[in-house]
Amino acid sequence: MTPELIKRYAAALPRYTSYPTANHFSGTIGANDYRAWLEMLPPGAALSLYLHIPFCQELCWYCGCSTKAVRRYEPVADYIDPLSGEIETIAGLVPVDHRVTHIHWGGGSPDILKPADIIRVGTALREKFRIAKDAEIAVEVDPRLLTEDQAQAFADIGVNRVSIGVQDFDIDVQRAIGRMQSYETTAKAIGLFRQRGIGSVNVDLVYGLPNQTEESVARTLEQVMTLAPDRIAIFGYAHLPDRLKHQRLIDETALPGAVERFEQSQRLAAMLVEAGYAQLGLDHFALREDGLATKTLARNFQGYTTDTADALLGLGASAISRLPQGFAQNSVPVDEYFRRVKDDGLATARGHRFTADDKMRAYVIERLMCDFAFSWADLEQKFGSRASAIRREADEIVACDMDQLVANSRDAFSLTERGKVLVRNICAHFDAYLTHDVSKRRHALSV
Ligand SMILES: C[S@@+](CC[C@H](N)C(=O)[O-])C[C@H]1O[C@@H](n2cnc3c(N)ncnc32)[C@H](O)[C@@H]1O
Ligand code: SF4
Repeated sequence: MTPELIKRYAAALPRYTSYPTANHFSGTIGANDYRAWLEMLPPGAALSLYLHIPFCQELCWYCGCSTKAVRRYEPVADYIDPLSGEIETIAGLVPVDHRVTHIHWGGGSPDILKPADIIRVGTALREKFRIAKDAEIAVEVDPRLLTEDQAQAFADIGVNRVSIGVQDFDIDVQRAIGRMQSYETTAKAIGLFRQRGIGSVNVDLVYGLPNQTEESVARTLEQVMTLAPDRIAIFGYAHLPDRLKHQRLIDETALPGAVERFEQSQRLAAMLVEAGYAQLGLDHFALREDGLATKTLARNFQGYTTDTADALLGLGASAISRLPQGFAQNSVPVDEYFRRVKDDGLATARGHRFTADDKMRAYVIERLMCDFAFSWADLEQKFGSRASAIRREADEIVACDMDQLVANSRDAFSLTERGKVLVRNICAHFDAYLTHDVSKRRHALSV
């Protein structure tokens, strides 16, 4: 990779946690569609649940998540009833013999909940859904909030994986992103979970933040590795100040450029591979014996996962569900979410119904994002003669591939080592919705 190539390919592109991406959802899908889709799930369906807790104590300036800062506990407490109501409605619509194989509490910061509310929601899930004995139950936490009682409450409701937000330990970076968090606080939070038998630990880091250098991110990673997480996610900072007002607090002159960002990500990846982590997809690393490294990788709104459930059901404000027929997203504003659940039991505000072409392109993009390749035999077996459209597009990509990013053989279409770095750019070629008008794109830089 040369600096010229990086600069040439750095473009506003989606991270492809879904296809089509959420900005192409529309109000044509509502609660009635979602209700019908839930009722059509096959008997014995494997389900994955995502619970969104859209609150934090303070907003980190870089944050791209759907959340808001709350000073008092009242708005958080008020959220529990509607959330429990939605849990009850949905559990009443899915097949009685379903099996929940994954639960993910995300946010925001689920550890803003008081222990009694963690137990209340966890108990509602157990009472209403059939949760498999070996289900993965994961929670994202802000280590600065976590108390011993909260860690105990999460352990009591069966949490067996935690995802800890770190981002960066460098003090100059922390000041520049409005998030102060010491190594000790982070180590303590991980310890509170490990003492309670929750040993599966994921750490989130971000590169491309203001004041970061290749050396500073390497120092942070060295500290993180002493905490021995089994998974590490390294996200490139997505800077979208036009859309996210609080990101305007970030000093843009302190942001590293595309080439520096690339060098930071390469340095981190090299350190992790050297330390024995497997590099997975765009931004994940896992110990070689971890399920993420040994099982088939899949991609959903939370990033990379081993989750292959028949349906992903999102609960809470802004949460997105994926069913065989399409996507359904809940209202984003919390008050609107409350109102919809109260009136109807469900809070669907928008979504997207899959066409046959969407399903094929979603498959191609997911395999590229996960494996950097897809097999022609698999594609043809799944999508029959429709696959010829993808063959034509693949041939066009190869014909214009001056930089040796892809390889196309009789068996598979794949990315070269250089192409893997630019996987989002290649996926974009297969994205039928992406506008060619760059000024209209609402995505962050791909490199
Ligand atoms: C819901 S937060 C994790 C839990 C908790 N709220 C915390 O921050 O500690 C999800 C993760 O998304 C990542 N993230 C948030 N905003 C981002 C952005 N603008 N660009 C890249 N990654 C971002 C951070 O790594 C963050 O830890
Ligand atoms: S990064 Fe986490 S703690 Fe910070 S504002 Fe976003 S969701 Fe909240």
